[in-house]
Amino acid sequence: MKIVSAIFLAAIQLANAQSPIYGQCGGQGWNGATTCASGSVCTFSNPYYSQCLPGSASSSTASTSPTTTTTATAPSQTSNGSGLPFLGGVNTAGYDFSVATDGSFNGTGVTPPVGQFSHFASQGVNIFRIPFAWQLMSPTLGGTISSSFFSRYDSTVQSALSTGAYVILDLHNYARWNGQVINQGGPTNAQFASLWSQVAQKYASNKKIIFGVMNEPHDLPQGTALWAASVQAAVNAIRAAGATSQVILIPGSSYASAQALPTEAGPDLLKVTDPAGGVGKLVFDVHKYLDSDNSGTHPDCTTDNVSVLQTLVAWLKQNGNRQALLSETGGGNTASCETSLKSELAYVKANSASIVGFTAWAAGAFATNYTLSLTPNSDGSDQPLWIQAIKPNLP
Ligand SMILES: *[C@@H]1O[C@H](CO)[C@@H](O)[C@H](O)[C@H]1NC(C)=O
Ligand SMILES: *[C@@H]1O[C@H](CO)[C@@H](O)[C@H](O)[C@H]1NC(C)=O
Ligand SMILES: *[C@@H]1O[C@H](CO)[C@@H](O)[C@H](O)[C@H]1NC(C)=O
Ligand SMILES: *[C@@H]1O[C@H](CO)[C@@H](O)[C@H](O)[C@H]1NC(C)=O
Repeated sequence: MKIVSAIFLAAIQLANAQSPIYGQCGGQGWNGATTCASGSVCTFSNPYYSQCLPGSASSSTASTSPTTTTTATAPSQTSNGSGLPFLGGVNTAGYDFSVATDGSFNGTGVTPPVGQFSHFASQGVNIFRIPFAWQLMSPTLGGTISSSFFSRYDSTVQSALSTGAYVILDLHNYARWNGQVINQGGPTNAQFASLWSQVAQKYASNKKIIFGVMNEPHDLPQGTALWAASVQAAVNAIRAAGATSQVILIPGSSYASAQALPTEAGPDLLKVTDPAGGVGKLVFDVHKYLDSDNSGTHPDCTTDNVSVLQTLVAWLKQNGNRQALLSETGGGNTASCETSLKSELAYVKANSASIVGFTAWAAGAFATNYTLSLTPNSDGSDQPLWIQAIKPNLP
């Protein structure tokens, strides 16, 4: 009862809203606005997609569908494929500390301070991304996961979940183990899948878990098609382990670049299938930094790079209304980043049907003087970037 009436109310609210010019206004599975901003007309493109295109309506009805005008508006249709609400939150790093971009690791991991989860959740955060090193979870490649590390990691995950938030389990290894790329000279797909099979089994019944199969693949010597095959192996393993209801994040190349996805790995990743059915729960994992070289290492930002996200959103829509999640973005605690990040995240929030959410980089075990730190100060106050750019764009 409660759920039915909530959906009914949401449908009424959405029906009253208007789509912006070039926004979606109908199609099977669409339950958003079906009227267009003034100066544009809802134009039938195919059974799955109608779009607000510039122009003025010659009649009172917006649709130019050759058959019916009711398909797009039926509230009984399913909504966005992932079923996720708009998500806003932060990376709580530490268990990934000292993983190098070549996938080597000699560390012990640092436990993120547990108090941060309630600190951020009380401000509206509803998602945390918790990175970990492959070598900590699985000390022997392809072997059994470490029970001691798992219990340490899981206690952090449970603290985050206890706030009601979603949690991304982030394997932070750049598609590599000790310098070599999965399925391209390094670990086999089976060894990669084994890790996910074991971790997914532990969380199979928790609907707030999101599986981030790999952080920032880059420099793939044999290309993105082979990488997509590795992603498929991880997806299959997660579903076979009984985790059939959750979202899986699938990353492309060039450090999961939001800009590169449509032209590099995207076409191959579109072919990845989900044994649980459909593709809506396979959400693209993208990163975008706003400094001069897009690396997320400088304190100053040079762009909000909204144009990159606009291109990404258009690509997602063209390919069956798929969704992405911006799992890393951020900047220094500087005026330029406060302006640029605020603008970027406002775009994400306004386009959450396509970019379902964000987790900013980074709090957790980072010191407050780390260049991109979002770690609260010891007196409980937040960093300027958090206050100015992120907090206003939380759900
Ligand atoms: C996706 O659909 C679900 C289920 O109807 C809804 O609760 C959620 O708000 C939608 N998310 C976005 C980002 O539109
Ligand atoms: C870990 O140790 C190996 C061998 O001693 C070394 O080659 C590698 O660079 C180290 N990696 C890191 C991230 O320190
Ligand atoms: C966005 O960032 C990319 C780097 O990823 C850069 O090449 C491009 O010029 C930027 N675009 C704008 C509009 O600033
Ligand atoms: C941060 O502060 C610590 C000591 O409090 C210092 O050792 C470290 O160099 C500082 N790091 C930066 C990036 O300023």
